[in-house]
Amino acid sequence: MSHVLAAVAWPYANGPRHIGHVSGFGVPSDVFARYMRMAGHDVLMVSGTDEHGTPIQVQADAEGVTPRELADRYNRVIAEDLRALGLSYDLFTRTTTRNHYAVVQELFAGLHRNGYIVPRVTTGAISPSTGRTLPDRYIEGTCPICGYDSARGDQCDNCGNQLDPVDLINPKSKINGETPEFVETEHFFLDLPALADALRQWLDGREGWRPNVLRFSRNLLDDLQPRAITRDLEWGVPIPLDDWRDRPDKRIYVWFDAVIGYLSASIEWARRTGDPEAWRRWWSADAEGRDARSYYFMGKDNIVFHSVIWPALLGGYSGAGDHDGEPGALGRLNLPTEVVSSEYLTMEGRKFSSSRKVVIYVRDFLERYDADALRYFIAVAGPESNDTDFTWAEFLRRNNDELVAGWGNLVNRSVSMAAKNFGAIPPVDPAGLTEADEALLATARAGFDTVGDLIGRHRQKQAIGEAMRVVAEANKYLSEQAPWKLKAEADKPRMGTILHVALQVVSDANTLLTPFLPHSAQQIHELLGGTGVHAPMPVLEEVDDLDGGPAYPVLTGDYTVGARWESVPLEVGRPLAAPKPVFRKLDPSIVEEELARLAG
Ligand code: MF3
Ligand code: ZN
Repeated sequence: MSHVLAAVAWPYANGPRHIGHVSGFGVPSDVFARYMRMAGHDVLMVSGTDEHGTPIQVQADAEGVTPRELADRYNRVIAEDLRALGLSYDLFTRTTTRNHYAVVQELFAGLHRNGYIVPRVTTGAISPSTGRTLPDRYIEGTCPICGYDSARGDQCDNCGNQLDPVDLINPKSKINGETPEFVETEHFFLDLPALADALRQWLDGREGWRPNVLRFSRNLLDDLQPRAITRDLEWGVPIPLDDWRDRPDKRIYVWFDAVIGYLSASIEWARRTGDPEAWRRWWSADAEGRDARSYYFMGKDNIVFHSVIWPALLGGYSGAGDHDGEPGALGRLNLPTEVVSSEYLTMEGRKFSSSRKVVIYVRDFLERYDADALRYFIAVAGPESNDTDFTWAEFLRRNNDELVAGWGNLVNRSVSMAAKNFGAIPPVDPAGLTEADEALLATARAGFDTVGDLIGRHRQKQAIGEAMRVVAEANKYLSEQAPWKLKAEADKPRMGTILHVALQVVSDANTLLTPFLPHSAQQIHELLGGTGVHAPMPVLEEVDDLDGGPAYPVLTGDYTVGARWESVPLEVGRPLAAPKPVFRKLDPSIVEEELARLAG
């Protein structure tokens, strides 16, 4: 048993999330957390909505609402979507809580005290009408190299060169068309070069990471520059230093505050349980948390923030790095055990894009299809370690041929035959088990080690493949044993034995599939006559801010209940009823319908 932190990337609250988002951070982290809990570990799974930064300010301005109002709206939409997907967060909160502000400021102040945060005067583009920083990607102009007239401030999409916004000819703000002003402005920088050796040492000690992620992270360390961690913006966490904290125009950079969310959410969770120090079991590098492990789940565009910036903040705060220093009030903190990054999902061969309407939002998806159908697709065909493509045709095929015709059919025919002929779980014939019976039972039992080990190593595609192999073996067994031919009174005991074996394997396979398909796993548990919670589900609750801010919704749950990662012998004589189908077969016409929706 150990303490396992499942740290899940925080979705931006600037709009609803699409299935590309949840295939990267959402479903894989939940599969991992559910499995680890079932295997007896003490899991803490935290996240929330990421609500600061320029994109939210820009979007709010465009709609004529405050950034807070915008964030309130999408925080609710996103939390509800994640609940509907069955993602088992211990706490899904947000970055606008007072607790989060306090923890972010504590880390900022500690890093500053240790000498890792230093002021610098820089030249930045600002919007003359608002005085706000204009990030490079919000500036457009003519490329000084190739003459392309809509080059972005950070790069030219025509010639591919990296650009500096000051060099653009005739630069314009993409937000309101005005000409940006380049001004001197004072900001705080994170002294990454002073943390480079400490980071390299940490990274050298990492094991089992996906090779792409480790290679990419190593390369980032080769050229570390000080990095600005404040912005000219009113929306964000105030800078906790004298002469700065009351300035309305300077805020901490959104990425600096967001990664600290993992810690602040853990602290919020602990405070809400009534044991405010409990978070240390997952975080403290000195005391109870010494053996804790932490896994961070995200898409690949987030790697740098999790394998460089976040460990740099944790290390610098804890007193590691060239300037040494003392740990702050929170003590020495653990750096990530593993950064589990996925690749990208595309949609019918194109990049997801809300503005170009190449998108299907989670909410729309779940209005028409079941959560487990989506979870199944993501598990077997998601972007685990390669970019993959979502197509409606492939979704239909996976759902109908594998989920319905494979797993659903096994459940359905085993339970209905047993219900019809015995009305209960039949006993094993005193004549005993045949070799075929034993072999199938052994295959299912062996699945607990193989599937569990694969999920533990973040090889979920292989893991669900192994679980589905058990299903395929069981279907083959039923076809070969043909219990439906054993209706004669004299054959009935053998029929009972075959169905007993089949139902036991259904029960085992259901446990193996529970981390992937928790909704259907609960239903199948009940079809087998089971009672109580098999796969616990998150709940959406309205809570008060712990420190007097406005109330907000959180996702949480009681995950101490539910199935363990083991084969549970079925109870002979437990009543069975005729099953209703667990999975829905989809009509092939949905493919045309969805493609038409996408086109227009
Ligand atoms: N909001 C970011 C994104 O969607 C992810 C932030 S992860 C965090 O890409 F750790 F920084 F919060
Ligand atoms: Zn160019």
